[in-house]
Amino acid sequence: MSLLSQTVASYCRHFDRRGALRTFQAPGRVNLIGDHTDYNDGFVLPAAIDRQIVVAAAVRDDALVNVYSRDFDQWDHFDLQKEIARLSEKSWGNYVRGIGWSLLQEGFTLRGMDAAIAGDIPIGAGLSSSAAIEVACGYAMLQLADHAVDRKALARAAQKAENDFVGMRCGIMDQYIACLGQRHQALLIDCRSLGYRALPIPSGVLIIIVDSGVHRGLVEMAYNQRRQECESAAAHFGVPALRDISLKAFENRAHELTAVVRRRSRHVITENARTVSAAEALQEDDLKTVGHLMKASHASLRDDFQVSCPELDCLVDIALEVKGVYGARLTGAGFGGSMVALVQAEAAADLNAAIAEGYGPATGKQATVYICKASEGVSEIKN
Ligand code: GLA
Repeated sequence: MSLLSQTVASYCRHFDRRGALRTFQAPGRVNLIGDHTDYNDGFVLPAAIDRQIVVAAAVRDDALVNVYSRDFDQWDHFDLQKEIARLSEKSWGNYVRGIGWSLLQEGFTLRGMDAAIAGDIPIGAGLSSSAAIEVACGYAMLQLADHAVDRKALARAAQKAENDFVGMRCGIMDQYIACLGQRHQALLIDCRSLGYRALPIPSGVLIIIVDSGVHRGLVEMAYNQRRQECESAAAHFGVPALRDISLKAFENRAHELTAVVRRRSRHVITENARTVSAAEALQEDDLKTVGHLMKASHASLRDDFQVSCPELDCLVDIALEVKGVYGARLTGAGFGGSMVALVQAEAAADLNAAIAEGYGPATGKQATVYICKASEGVSEIKN
């Protein structure tokens, strides 16, 4: 049964009113290069993937939101006309509450809804299932209240939900690509102007994601700390964001920073340059160069930004040994989660075999391989 049918079935099991049921989806994402650059007003190169959160929802006559999560077998209920409180435990419900809260803050009038949600984005694997919940539910809430959807505004509202309601000071990448992703394309996004350029994934090249099986709690704390270190560097240089410092200007004054802040800044500044170069190379079908830049990106995330872990390093090492793998790196925030590799289609089986053989014995962990297609952003699913 497809994810869509499962979500609708779940709705029908839990709600009486069949009324005008509508269905929506928002995708997870993988970032090819450009990590920890978005909140420094820099560049990222993600693609939406063919794994999603699906929402089956019907509008109500009152302001109550009743949501059932198939994946957690849990309910959440809140009232759009009362103050929306954050749930104290870490819960999927906060993403639904957060986007409702954020859209109300933006001045939208919303209507209550009954909704079932379900997904196939692996949770905790660094593929942004939470951004997909925010965006799918936000899109559903706007549509059910007959508002036209401005995708960039929805992305901003979802980021605000995460920043100010959930408490994770993330940048805009995940919510943006969940809103604006395109089939067969990666997007080079300028996180300052919010402009983007779509770049086709060449045919014959696969995006392979490997979940390391390391799913850490407390990522928020380490993440927010990195962000604070970057902001302190920008403040030191007297610029709005690290985006505004050239490598040369940084090198001239790097000695003024503490060793830790110096490393963080060097990562961000060099990663921005790598991301722009990788986009140019992708445009020219120069996968070899893209691969080199991915490899350098991983080293920088590992050594300067210090967000890798032995398991991700091991996956990258294994992947880079396989003939036909152009490049591999950790993707997303790090601290566990997944590796992304760009791979010649013919080499996929070899990569799979190398991971099956090498990863478990070296780390004691189980890896999961996903071959992904670059996919479209949030949408209504019309039957
Ligand atoms: C998480 C955040 C994003 C981004 C990445 C790292 O996914 O949500 O905003 O900062 O980490 O690039």
